[in-house]
Amino acid sequence: MTKHSLLSLLMLCFATAGCNQKSPSAVPDNSQVSEGLAAVSPVTVGVAVGIGRFESQASLRYSPEAKALQQTVAREFNQVVAENVMKPQYIHPSENSYFWDDADYLVDFAKQHDMAVHGHTLVWHQALPDWMNTYSGNWDDMLKEHITTIVSHYAADIDSWDVVNEAFLDDGSPRQSIWQTNLPDYIAKAFNYANQADPDAELYYNDYNIAGMSKKLDAVLAMAKSLRQRNIEITGIGFQMHIDRYWPSLDNIREAFQKTVAAGLKVRISELDIRMNVNGTETELSPELAHLQQQRYQDIILLYLNTVPEEYRGGITFWGVSDKNSWVNYYYQHADWPLLFDDKLQRKAAWQGVFNAFTSH
Ligand code: G3I
Repeated sequence: MTKHSLLSLLMLCFATAGCNQKSPSAVPDNSQVSEGLAAVSPVTVGVAVGIGRFESQASLRYSPEAKALQQTVAREFNQVVAENVMKPQYIHPSENSYFWDDADYLVDFAKQHDMAVHGHTLVWHQALPDWMNTYSGNWDDMLKEHITTIVSHYAADIDSWDVVNEAFLDDGSPRQSIWQTNLPDYIAKAFNYANQADPDAELYYNDYNIAGMSKKLDAVLAMAKSLRQRNIEITGIGFQMHIDRYWPSLDNIREAFQKTVAAGLKVRISELDIRMNVNGTETELSPELAHLQQQRYQDIILLYLNTVPEEYRGGITFWGVSDKNSWVNYYYQHADWPLLFDDKLQRKAAWQGVFNAFTSH
């Protein structure tokens, strides 16, 4: 080992707190193994995918690299989630019409590859069609018709749904939205209508920052408890986990998962991605950053498997396939590399972290 590489190894050791950490080159490299994550995963492992023309590069259907995307998704995962096309804006574009074509395409793709489909999302304050934002009719009837029509259409194909998404603010107070304004009891009604439309489907409440903000999680768990006290079916909580290299801490996340299980609710990691360029100062995913991300993914997945008992596991979903199509880049307006596959759909060190967690548990 040259002096230079010894120096950089020492530097890396100090960067990653402690010398018992194996340097990137010492970690087993399974990136060439044929089997994907689903083959070694003890839980359902899913990925969000684009489908519609408006999702261009990220579209499993219309992207110039659709074939390679489909191969990667089918090899690695056993569940798919529509990143956008099942949201009200796209699937219910006008009051009396539904656009099934793209969502049906995803369901057919899943069937062809023996994969499950998780529905995202029936009720949200975003991605709403104009007619809903200006609706002046009976909101309860409209909500019932919206949910009943979509859930019934997919009752044979979709096993679980994000019924309501992001209804609370970070301080735990209810989010003001057209639903909150026009139908204050909309959360209970939404879960009720979804359960009536498909009694076999698992029904989740989905949100972000609940793994790190206890006030928000407490409000969500109180909501779930009140639904159950009213005999309204709710299966579990979707932790979106749009996190970064620092936040939230493993202790935060462990406590949040433990609280949720203690409340008798399943835990889904529903939209996992890990940002490594939090301040926008990094210009590339350096080997050191890649190794930190590998460790962070490995820690998060192992924590989930060690904290959430099997019967409470709703599975793990990654929010996108490759870094270049991640929402993170255009939302935060700077480069980042939050996912498991690089721009050429090659497995990153991050993928190795997940593989290690699944195979070492
Ligand atoms: O690509 C079209 C473009 O052609 C068109 O000109 C433009 C006009 O608005 O729309 C573009 O579509 C964008 C679409 O992503 C495809 O890239 C939409 O604007 C944009 O709103 C949409 O963003 C999605 C966002 O949810 C809002 O629905 C992201 O892809 C998606 O990753 C993100 O996912 C959310 C989850 O549903 C809920 N939790 C947070 C998560 C991240 O924000």
